[in-house]
Amino acid sequence: MKLTQLTIALTKGRLEKKTLSLFEQAGIDVSFMQDKQRKLIFTSPDQRFKFLLVKAADVTTYVRHGVADIGIVGKDVLMEHPFGYYEMLDLKIGVCKFSVASTKNYQPDDYKRKRIATKYPTVASEHFRKKGEDVEIIKIEGSVEIAPVLGLADAIVDIVETGTTLKENGLEIFEDICSVSARLIVNKAMLKRKRQAIFQLFDELETVIGGDRNEMAEGRNNRNFKGTK
Ligand code: PRP
Repeated sequence: MKLTQLTIALTKGRLEKKTLSLFEQAGIDVSFMQDKQRKLIFTSPDQRFKFLLVKAADVTTYVRHGVADIGIVGKDVLMEHPFGYYEMLDLKIGVCKFSVASTKNYQPDDYKRKRIATKYPTVASEHFRKKGEDVEIIKIEGSVEIAPVLGLADAIVDIVETGTTLKENGLEIFEDICSVSARLIVNKAMLKRKRQAIFQLFDELETVIGGDRNEMAEGRNNRNFKGTK
């Protein structure tokens, strides 16, 4: 039988290591990715997988355009880019949360219009909109924690994992928004075209992440399954 190769767009960096360790625990040999140096595309010796190492925000782009069949990326990124793929599995790695944080003199109940610095403008504006609060969003690309310290913003909306970055920059959490973790997303057309290979991978991963998959179970029995998005 002809092997169906799966192309997986994988978020480079912190999540990459956790994902590869998850694959290893699921019995999938990823040792061919160990000595990677600056390479960004890897094919497994048995040709079953091709991994693309890309920036988090680009994972959804590769999946949406069908260059990758599958993407592995944080829910934080999916909340900013919510369309054009099916979100299929919570991999339960890379667990962190969205929080509002600032210096200790921040007044969350102050009536003046606040400036909020963030890498996540959609998440931040949605959070304050739900609270009925009109804020000015200042989009920045990283090192968000220094924005309130330097007076660029009153507070930040950012992901917090260990809390070390906040602490080391003199910030504290004023509000938690929601928790996030790594998700597996699938190209819509490929879910049909490569269904067997994709679900075989799910079976393997679920031996590690557990059977908490009511939607998945339903999906397998339901030919009209459309994923969680
Ligand atoms: C993220 C986030 C925080 C940090 C939180 O940044 O934006 O800065 O991690 O992690 P901690 O609670 O464990 O300290 P990332 O490392 O992705 O770098 P960036 O600022 O370049 O986006």
